[in-house]
Amino acid sequence: MLQDNIPNLAGLVEPDRVRKEVYTDPALFQLEMERIHERVWIYCGHESQVKRPGDYATVQIGRQPMILVRGSEGKLNVLYNRCPHRGNMLCGDRHGSTGEFFRCSYHAWTFHHDGKLRNIPMMESGYAGTRLTRDNPDCNVKRAARVESYRGFVFASLAAEGPSLTEFLGPAKIAFDDMCDRAPEGEVEIVPNCFRVIQHSNWKIFLENQLDALHPSVTHQSTGRAAREVELAIEKATGKAPLSYHMLSAFATVTIDKWDNFRTLNYPYGHCILTGYMGLRPQDPDTLDYERVLARAYGEQRKEEILSTDIHHVLLYPGLSVQSPLQQLRAVRPLSVDRTLTEIWHFRLKGAPEPIYRRALAYYNLVNSPSTMINADDLENFWKCQQGLSSDGGDWLSFHRHFGRDSERGGVVETGEGMGTSEAPMRNQMRAWAQCMSKA
Ligand code: FES
Ligand SMILES: [Fe+2]
Repeated sequence: MLQDNIPNLAGLVEPDRVRKEVYTDPALFQLEMERIHERVWIYCGHESQVKRPGDYATVQIGRQPMILVRGSEGKLNVLYNRCPHRGNMLCGDRHGSTGEFFRCSYHAWTFHHDGKLRNIPMMESGYAGTRLTRDNPDCNVKRAARVESYRGFVFASLAAEGPSLTEFLGPAKIAFDDMCDRAPEGEVEIVPNCFRVIQHSNWKIFLENQLDALHPSVTHQSTGRAAREVELAIEKATGKAPLSYHMLSAFATVTIDKWDNFRTLNYPYGHCILTGYMGLRPQDPDTLDYERVLARAYGEQRKEEILSTDIHHVLLYPGLSVQSPLQQLRAVRPLSVDRTLTEIWHFRLKGAPEPIYRRALAYYNLVNSPSTMINADDLENFWKCQQGLSSDGGDWLSFHRHFGRDSERGGVVETGEGMGTSEAPMRNQMRAWAQCMSKA
Protein backbone atom coordinates (compact mmCIF):
# COMPACT_ATOMS: atom_id res chain seq x y z
CA MET A 1 0.00 0.00 0.00
CA LEU A 2 1.18 3.48 -0.85
CA GLN A 3 0.67 4.83 2.63
CA ASP A 4 2.89 2.08 4.08
CA ASN A 5 5.84 3.99 2.57
CA ILE A 6 4.83 7.09 4.51
CA PRO A 7 5.64 6.81 8.18
CA ASN A 8 3.35 8.50 10.67
CA LEU A 9 0.93 10.32 8.38
CA ALA A 10 -0.78 11.85 11.42
CA GLY A 11 2.48 13.33 12.71
CA LEU A 12 3.14 15.41 9.60
CA VAL A 13 0.79 18.26 10.44
CA GLU A 14 0.44 20.07 13.76
CA PRO A 15 -1.92 23.02 14.28
CA ASP A 16 0.93 25.54 13.97
CA ARG A 17 3.58 23.76 11.88
CA VAL A 18 4.09 21.20 9.11
CA ARG A 19 6.83 18.69 8.31
CA LYS A 20 8.92 19.47 5.23
CA GLU A 21 8.17 16.03 3.71
CA VAL A 22 4.65 17.27 2.98
CA TYR A 23 6.26 19.38 0.23
CA THR A 24 9.08 17.09 -0.88
CA ASP A 25 8.09 13.40 -0.61
CA PRO A 26 7.03 11.92 -4.00
CA ALA A 27 5.08 9.09 -2.30
CA LEU A 28 3.13 11.61 -0.30
CA PHE A 29 2.38 13.51 -3.51
CA GLN A 30 0.80 10.36 -5.00
CA LEU A 31 -1.33 9.95 -1.87
CA GLU A 32 -2.39 13.62 -2.10
CA MET A 33 -3.58 13.05 -5.64
CA GLU A 34 -5.53 9.95 -4.58
CA ARG A 35 -7.09 11.38 -1.44
CA ILE A 36 -7.45 15.08 -2.25
CA HIS A 37 -7.41 16.09 -5.93
CA GLU A 38 -9.05 12.94 -7.25
CA ARG A 39 -11.83 13.11 -4.67
CA VAL A 40 -12.91 16.67 -3.96
CA TRP A 41 -14.55 19.13 -6.37
CA ILE A 42 -12.01 20.42 -8.89
CA TYR A 43 -12.62 23.31 -11.28
CA CYS A 44 -12.80 22.09 -14.89
CA GLY A 45 -13.64 25.25 -16.78
CA HIS A 46 -16.36 27.75 -17.60
CA GLU A 47 -19.53 26.89 -19.51
CA SER A 48 -18.70 29.57 -22.07
CA GLN A 49 -15.63 27.54 -23.10
CA VAL A 50 -17.94 24.89 -24.54
CA LYS A 51 -20.88 26.76 -26.01
CA ARG A 52 -22.03 24.42 -28.78
CA PRO A 53 -22.66 20.67 -28.72
CA GLY A 54 -19.36 18.91 -29.39
CA ASP A 55 -17.23 21.78 -28.03
CA TYR A 56 -14.63 20.44 -25.63
CA ALA A 57 -11.79 21.57 -23.40
CA THR A 58 -9.24 19.21 -21.89
CA VAL A 59 -8.25 19.54 -18.26
CA GLN A 60 -6.14 17.70 -15.68
CA ILE A 61 -7.79 16.52 -12.46
CA GLY A 62 -5.12 15.15 -10.16
CA ARG A 63 -3.26 12.67 -12.35
CA GLN A 64 -6.19 12.14 -14.70
CA PRO A 65 -6.46 13.71 -18.15
CA MET A 66 -10.12 14.70 -18.56
CA ILE A 67 -12.42 16.21 -21.19
CA LEU A 68 -15.14 18.76 -20.51
CA VAL A 69 -17.60 18.41 -23.40
CA ARG A 70 -21.02 19.85 -24.23
CA GLY A 71 -23.55 17.20 -25.22
CA SER A 72 -26.06 17.53 -28.04
CA GLU A 73 -28.86 18.27 -25.60
CA GLY A 74 -26.74 20.99 -23.99
CA LYS A 75 -25.68 18.85 -21.03
CA LEU A 76 -22.13 19.19 -19.69
CA ASN A 77 -20.11 15.99 -19.46
CA VAL A 78 -16.71 15.38 -17.94
CA LEU A 79 -15.03 12.24 -19.30
CA TYR A 80 -11.71 10.52 -18.82
CA ASN A 81 -9.63 11.33 -21.88
CA ARG A 82 -9.08 7.67 -22.63
CA CYS A 83 -10.39 5.37 -25.31
CA PRO A 84 -11.65 2.08 -23.84
CA HIS A 85 -10.08 0.13 -26.75
CA ARG A 86 -6.33 0.46 -26.25
CA GLY A 87 -6.17 3.55 -24.06
CA ASN A 88 -5.49 6.27 -26.64
CA MET A 89 -6.41 9.78 -25.50
CA LEU A 90 -9.48 10.84 -27.43
CA CYS A 91 -8.52 14.53 -27.56
CA GLY A 92 -4.93 15.60 -28.02
CA ASP A 93 -5.67 19.32 -28.23
CA ARG A 94 -6.42 21.70 -25.39
CA HIS A 95 -9.79 22.63 -26.88
CA GLY A 96 -11.84 22.35 -30.05
CA SER A 97 -14.96 20.72 -31.41
CA THR A 98 -15.37 17.01 -31.73
CA GLY A 99 -18.44 17.41 -33.97
CA GLU A 100 -21.40 15.11 -33.54
CA PHE A 101 -19.36 12.41 -31.79
CA PHE A 102 -15.84 11.48 -30.66
CA ARG A 103 -13.83 9.41 -33.10
CA CYS A 104 -10.66 7.81 -31.74
CA SER A 105 -7.71 8.57 -34.00
CA TYR A 106 -6.24 5.08 -33.55
CA HIS A 107 -8.87 2.54 -34.74
CA ALA A 108 -11.98 4.72 -35.23
CA TRP A 109 -14.12 3.58 -32.33
CA THR A 110 -16.71 6.34 -31.94
CA PHE A 111 -18.50 7.65 -28.84
CA HIS A 112 -21.41 9.93 -28.01
CA HIS A 113 -20.70 13.14 -26.06
CA ASP A 114 -21.76 11.43 -22.83
CA GLY A 115 -19.10 8.74 -23.36
CA LYS A 116 -21.46 5.95 -24.55
CA LEU A 117 -20.14 3.75 -27.33
CA ARG A 118 -21.57 4.76 -30.70
CA ASN A 119 -19.84 2.32 -33.01
CA ILE A 120 -16.88 0.01 -33.48
CA PRO A 121 -15.85 -0.57 -37.10
CA MET A 122 -17.11 -3.98 -38.27
CA MET A 123 -18.08 -4.85 -34.72
CA GLU A 124 -20.19 -7.89 -35.63
CA SER A 125 -17.45 -9.69 -37.54
CA GLY A 126 -14.56 -8.56 -35.35
CA TYR A 127 -16.01 -9.15 -31.92
CA ALA A 128 -18.57 -11.95 -32.35
CA GLY A 129 -18.31 -14.35 -29.44
CA THR A 130 -16.09 -12.08 -27.33
CA ARG A 131 -17.11 -10.28 -24.18
CA LEU A 132 -17.14 -6.98 -26.09
CA THR A 133 -20.78 -6.54 -26.80
CA ARG A 134 -22.47 -3.22 -27.50
CA ASP A 135 -24.07 -3.12 -24.04
CA ASN A 136 -20.84 -3.90 -22.17
CA PRO A 137 -20.13 -0.76 -20.10
CA ASP A 138 -16.40 -1.41 -20.61
CA CYS A 139 -16.94 -0.14 -24.17
CA ASN A 140 -17.92 3.31 -22.93
CA VAL A 141 -15.59 6.18 -22.11
CA LYS A 142 -15.50 6.47 -18.32
CA ARG A 143 -17.24 9.50 -16.87
CA ALA A 144 -16.28 11.64 -13.87
CA ALA A 145 -18.34 10.40 -10.94
CA ARG A 146 -20.00 13.79 -10.41
CA VAL A 147 -20.28 17.03 -12.39
CA GLU A 148 -21.93 20.23 -11.18
CA SER A 149 -21.69 23.86 -12.10
CA TYR A 150 -22.26 27.01 -10.12
CA ARG A 151 -23.05 30.24 -12.01
CA GLY A 152 -21.30 28.88 -15.09
CA PHE A 153 -18.20 27.52 -13.33
CA VAL A 154 -17.98 23.78 -13.89
CA PHE A 155 -16.53 21.41 -11.31
CA ALA A 156 -16.08 17.64 -11.28
CA SER A 157 -15.41 15.16 -8.51
CA LEU A 158 -13.92 11.77 -9.31
CA ALA A 159 -15.48 10.31 -6.15
CA ALA A 160 -19.09 9.12 -6.15
CA GLU A 161 -19.56 10.07 -2.50
CA GLY A 162 -19.06 13.44 -0.87
CA PRO A 163 -20.69 16.80 -0.30
CA SER A 164 -22.56 18.51 -3.14
CA LEU A 165 -20.71 21.33 -4.90
CA THR A 166 -22.60 24.10 -3.09
CA GLU A 167 -22.12 22.36 0.24
CA PHE A 168 -18.40 22.02 -0.52
CA LEU A 169 -18.02 25.67 -1.58
CA GLY A 170 -20.06 26.93 1.36
CA PRO A 171 -19.72 30.68 1.93
CA ALA A 172 -16.67 30.72 -0.38
CA LYS A 173 -19.06 30.51 -3.33
CA ILE A 174 -19.10 34.29 -2.98
CA ALA A 175 -16.07 34.13 -5.30
CA PHE A 176 -18.46 33.38 -8.18
CA ASP A 177 -21.38 35.46 -6.90
CA ASP A 178 -19.18 38.51 -6.61
CA MET A 179 -17.69 37.99 -10.06
CA CYS A 180 -21.06 37.45 -11.79
CA ASP A 181 -23.02 40.07 -9.83
CA ARG A 182 -20.58 42.72 -11.04
CA ALA A 183 -21.86 42.02 -14.55
CA PRO A 184 -24.98 44.00 -15.52
CA GLU A 185 -26.29 40.79 -17.13
CA GLY A 186 -25.42 38.71 -14.06
CA GLU A 187 -22.95 36.44 -15.78
CA VAL A 188 -19.42 36.36 -17.11
CA GLU A 189 -17.82 34.99 -20.24
CA ILE A 190 -14.38 33.44 -20.31
CA VAL A 191 -11.67 35.01 -22.46
CA PRO A 192 -9.92 32.33 -24.46
CA ASN A 193 -7.10 31.41 -23.89
CA CYS A 194 -5.12 31.40 -20.62
CA PHE A 195 -1.50 31.85 -19.65
CA ARG A 196 0.12 28.65 -18.44
CA VAL A 197 3.09 28.68 -16.09
CA ILE A 198 4.99 25.68 -14.74
CA GLN A 199 6.31 26.46 -11.29
CA HIS A 200 9.28 24.47 -9.98
CA SER A 201 7.69 24.02 -6.59
CA ASN A 202 5.04 22.06 -4.75
CA TRP A 203 1.39 22.99 -5.42
CA LYS A 204 0.72 23.96 -1.80
CA ILE A 205 3.41 26.65 -1.87
CA PHE A 206 1.43 28.55 -4.52
CA LEU A 207 -1.86 28.20 -2.61
CA GLU A 208 -0.30 29.31 0.67
CA ASN A 209 1.01 32.43 -1.04
CA GLN A 210 -2.42 33.52 -2.26
CA LEU A 211 -3.70 34.83 1.07
CA ASP A 212 -0.28 35.62 2.47
CA ALA A 213 -0.80 39.32 3.21
CA LEU A 214 2.60 39.51 4.86
CA HIS A 215 4.58 39.02 1.67
CA PRO A 216 3.39 41.63 -0.90
CA SER A 217 5.12 44.64 0.58
CA VAL A 218 8.32 42.60 1.01
CA THR A 219 8.46 40.35 -2.06
CA HIS A 220 7.04 42.93 -4.43
CA GLN A 221 8.59 46.01 -2.86
CA SER A 222 11.12 46.61 -5.61
CA THR A 223 8.49 46.27 -8.35
CA GLY A 224 6.11 48.53 -6.40
CA ARG A 225 8.76 51.17 -5.80
CA ALA A 226 9.79 51.31 -9.45
CA ALA A 227 6.14 51.71 -10.48
CA ARG A 228 5.61 54.39 -7.83
CA GLU A 229 8.55 56.40 -9.18
CA VAL A 230 7.15 56.35 -12.71
CA GLU A 231 3.64 57.07 -11.42
CA LEU A 232 4.86 60.15 -9.56
CA ALA A 233 6.82 61.34 -12.58
CA ILE A 234 3.72 61.04 -14.80
CA GLU A 235 1.57 62.76 -12.18
CA LYS A 236 4.07 65.61 -12.02
CA ALA A 237 4.17 65.99 -15.79
CA THR A 238 0.47 65.55 -16.57
CA GLY A 239 -1.41 65.99 -13.29
CA LYS A 240 -2.74 62.41 -13.29
CA ALA A 241 -1.26 58.92 -13.76
CA PRO A 242 -3.16 56.04 -15.37
CA LEU A 243 -4.87 53.67 -12.93
CA SER A 244 -2.70 50.79 -14.08
CA TYR A 245 0.34 52.30 -12.31
CA HIS A 246 -1.61 52.22 -9.08
CA MET A 247 -2.09 48.45 -9.50
CA LEU A 248 1.69 48.06 -9.19
CA SER A 249 2.64 50.98 -6.96
CA ALA A 250 0.19 49.74 -4.30
CA PHE A 251 2.71 46.98 -3.59
CA ALA A 252 5.02 49.70 -2.24
CA THR A 253 2.47 52.06 -0.73
CA VAL A 254 0.34 49.42 1.05
CA THR A 255 2.83 48.52 3.77
CA ILE A 256 2.66 45.56 6.19
CA ASP A 257 0.81 47.56 8.83
CA LYS A 258 -1.88 48.44 6.27
CA TRP A 259 -2.26 44.81 5.17
CA ASP A 260 -2.88 44.07 8.83
CA ASN A 261 -6.10 46.10 8.56
CA PHE A 262 -7.62 43.42 6.35
CA ARG A 263 -9.18 40.24 7.67
CA THR A 264 -9.11 36.61 6.76
CA LEU A 265 -12.10 34.28 6.96
CA ASN A 266 -11.31 30.59 7.06
CA TYR A 267 -13.96 28.05 6.16
CA PRO A 268 -14.42 24.27 6.24
CA TYR A 269 -12.74 22.24 3.45
CA GLY A 270 -9.77 24.66 3.45
CA HIS A 271 -11.36 27.61 1.66
CA CYS A 272 -10.35 31.12 2.78
CA ILE A 273 -11.09 34.75 2.00
CA LEU A 274 -8.85 37.77 2.33
CA THR A 275 -10.95 40.91 2.62
CA GLY A 276 -10.13 44.45 1.63
CA TYR A 277 -9.22 45.74 -1.72
CA MET A 278 -6.59 48.27 -2.49
CA GLY A 279 -8.97 50.87 -3.84
CA LEU A 280 -10.37 49.81 -7.19
CA ARG A 281 -13.41 52.02 -7.11
CA PRO A 282 -12.03 55.20 -8.58
CA GLN A 283 -14.23 58.07 -9.63
CA ASP A 284 -13.01 58.30 -13.22
CA PRO A 285 -15.59 58.69 -16.05
CA ASP A 286 -15.29 55.02 -17.10
CA THR A 287 -16.08 53.74 -13.62
CA LEU A 288 -18.95 56.18 -13.19
CA ASP A 289 -20.36 55.12 -16.56
CA TYR A 290 -20.17 51.46 -15.48
CA GLU A 291 -21.87 52.30 -12.18
CA ARG A 292 -24.75 53.88 -14.10
CA VAL A 293 -25.16 50.74 -16.23
CA LEU A 294 -25.10 48.61 -13.09
CA ALA A 295 -27.68 50.84 -11.36
CA ARG A 296 -29.99 50.53 -14.37
CA ALA A 297 -29.70 46.74 -14.22
CA TYR A 298 -30.06 46.27 -10.46
CA GLY A 299 -31.30 49.51 -8.90
CA GLU A 300 -29.24 51.91 -6.83
CA GLN A 301 -29.31 49.99 -3.56
CA ARG A 302 -28.31 46.63 -5.02
CA LYS A 303 -25.59 48.32 -7.09
CA GLU A 304 -24.07 49.71 -3.90
CA GLU A 305 -24.21 46.30 -2.25
CA ILE A 306 -22.47 44.71 -5.22
CA LEU A 307 -19.72 47.28 -5.52
CA SER A 308 -18.96 47.35 -1.82
CA THR A 309 -18.40 43.57 -1.57
CA ASP A 310 -15.23 43.44 0.47
CA ILE A 311 -13.03 40.81 -1.14
CA HIS A 312 -9.45 40.82 -2.27
CA HIS A 313 -8.97 37.13 -2.85
CA VAL A 314 -10.89 33.89 -2.42
CA LEU A 315 -8.99 30.64 -2.18
CA LEU A 316 -10.98 27.53 -3.03
CA TYR A 317 -8.96 24.63 -1.73
CA PRO A 318 -7.22 22.69 -3.24
CA GLY A 319 -7.05 24.18 -6.66
CA LEU A 320 -8.39 27.65 -7.29
CA SER A 321 -7.45 31.20 -6.45
CA VAL A 322 -10.11 33.72 -7.46
CA GLN A 323 -9.86 37.50 -7.64
CA SER A 324 -13.51 38.24 -8.18
CA PRO A 325 -13.40 42.08 -8.21
CA LEU A 326 -11.07 41.83 -11.20
CA GLN A 327 -12.68 38.83 -12.87
CA GLN A 328 -9.69 36.52 -12.86
CA LEU A 329 -8.68 33.22 -11.44
CA ARG A 330 -5.74 30.89 -11.28
CA ALA A 331 -6.27 27.14 -11.41
CA VAL A 332 -3.63 24.91 -9.89
CA ARG A 333 -2.76 21.60 -11.55
CA PRO A 334 -0.13 19.63 -9.60
CA LEU A 335 2.27 17.76 -11.93
CA SER A 336 4.70 16.20 -9.46
CA VAL A 337 5.94 16.86 -5.95
CA ASP A 338 8.05 19.79 -7.21
CA ARG A 339 6.27 20.83 -10.43
CA THR A 340 2.97 22.70 -10.60
CA LEU A 341 1.07 24.04 -13.57
CA THR A 342 -0.99 27.16 -13.03
CA GLU A 343 -3.55 28.36 -15.56
CA ILE A 344 -4.28 32.08 -15.41
CA TRP A 345 -7.74 32.88 -16.79
CA HIS A 346 -9.79 36.07 -16.99
CA PHE A 347 -13.41 36.87 -17.76
CA ARG A 348 -15.60 39.57 -19.27
CA LEU A 349 -18.50 41.05 -17.32
CA LYS A 350 -21.47 40.60 -19.66
CA GLY A 351 -23.11 43.95 -20.36
CA ALA A 352 -20.30 46.08 -18.85
CA PRO A 353 -18.65 48.85 -20.87
CA GLU A 354 -15.40 47.95 -22.63
CA PRO A 355 -13.09 50.12 -20.44
CA ILE A 356 -14.00 48.00 -17.42
CA TYR A 357 -12.80 44.94 -19.29
CA ARG A 358 -9.62 46.83 -20.27
CA ARG A 359 -9.01 47.63 -16.62
CA ALA A 360 -9.30 44.00 -15.58
CA LEU A 361 -7.06 43.04 -18.49
CA ALA A 362 -4.45 45.55 -17.31
CA TYR A 363 -4.44 43.92 -13.87
CA TYR A 364 -4.24 40.48 -15.49
CA ASN A 365 -1.21 41.52 -17.51
CA LEU A 366 0.48 43.63 -14.83
CA VAL A 367 -0.02 41.42 -11.77
CA ASN A 368 -0.93 37.86 -12.74
CA SER A 369 0.63 37.17 -16.15
CA PRO A 370 4.00 35.46 -16.64
CA SER A 371 5.39 38.67 -18.12
CA THR A 372 5.01 40.79 -15.00
CA MET A 373 7.72 41.28 -12.40
CA ILE A 374 5.10 40.57 -9.70
CA ASN A 375 4.74 37.01 -10.95
CA ALA A 376 8.51 36.66 -11.32
CA ASP A 377 9.01 37.91 -7.73
CA ASP A 378 6.69 35.18 -6.46
CA LEU A 379 8.02 32.40 -8.69
CA GLU A 380 11.55 33.00 -7.45
CA ASN A 381 10.38 32.64 -3.85
CA PHE A 382 8.42 29.48 -4.67
CA TRP A 383 11.48 27.86 -6.26
CA LYS A 384 13.70 28.95 -3.38
CA CYS A 385 11.19 27.54 -0.86
CA GLN A 386 11.22 24.19 -2.65
CA GLN A 387 15.05 24.15 -2.64
CA GLY A 388 15.26 25.09 1.02
CA LEU A 389 12.62 22.59 2.07
CA SER A 390 14.48 19.83 0.23
CA SER A 391 17.59 20.49 2.33
CA ASP A 392 18.60 19.15 5.75
CA GLY A 393 18.47 22.65 7.19
CA GLY A 394 15.33 21.95 9.22
CA ASP A 395 12.36 19.62 9.57
CA TRP A 396 9.38 21.97 10.00
CA LEU A 397 7.71 24.97 8.34
CA SER A 398 6.25 27.55 10.66
CA PHE A 399 2.66 28.81 10.50
CA HIS A 400 2.80 30.50 13.91
CA ARG A 401 1.97 34.08 12.97
CA HIS A 402 -0.96 35.15 15.20
CA PHE A 403 -1.48 31.51 16.19
CA GLY A 404 -3.86 31.18 19.13
CA ARG A 405 -5.48 34.56 18.44
CA ASP A 406 -8.11 33.42 15.95
CA SER A 407 -11.75 33.36 16.92
CA GLU A 408 -14.10 30.61 15.80
CA ARG A 409 -17.81 31.05 15.17
CA GLY A 410 -20.01 28.42 13.55
CA GLY A 411 -17.07 26.63 11.96
CA VAL A 412 -15.58 29.86 10.53
CA VAL A 413 -12.19 30.90 11.84
CA GLU A 414 -11.70 34.66 11.76
CA THR A 415 -8.51 36.55 12.33
CA GLY A 416 -8.66 39.21 14.99
CA GLU A 417 -8.65 42.96 14.52
CA GLY A 418 -5.37 44.18 13.04
CA MET A 419 -4.15 40.67 12.23
CA GLY A 420 -4.62 40.55 8.46
CA THR A 421 -1.13 39.13 8.06
CA SER A 422 -2.06 36.11 10.16
CA GLU A 423 -1.03 32.68 8.92
CA ALA A 424 -4.54 31.43 9.71
CA PRO A 425 -5.25 30.66 6.00
CA MET A 426 -2.21 28.36 5.84
CA ARG A 427 -3.27 26.64 9.06
CA ASN A 428 -6.76 26.25 7.65
CA GLN A 429 -5.47 24.70 4.42
CA MET A 430 -3.29 22.24 6.29
CA ARG A 431 -6.22 21.31 8.52
CA ALA A 432 -8.22 20.42 5.40
CA TRP A 433 -5.20 18.58 4.02
CA ALA A 434 -4.88 16.45 7.16
CA GLN A 435 -8.62 15.70 7.14
CA CYS A 436 -8.57 14.55 3.52
CA MET A 437 -5.36 12.59 3.88
CA SER A 438 -6.57 10.68 6.93
CA LYS A 439 -9.52 9.17 5.00
CA ALA A 440 -8.44 5.95 3.32
S1 FES B 1 -7.34 2.98 -29.14
FE1 FES B 1 -9.16 4.00 -29.60
S2 FES B 1 -10.01 2.91 -31.25
FE2 FES B 1 -8.21 1.86 -30.74
FE1 LIG C 1 2.94 37.75 -4.47
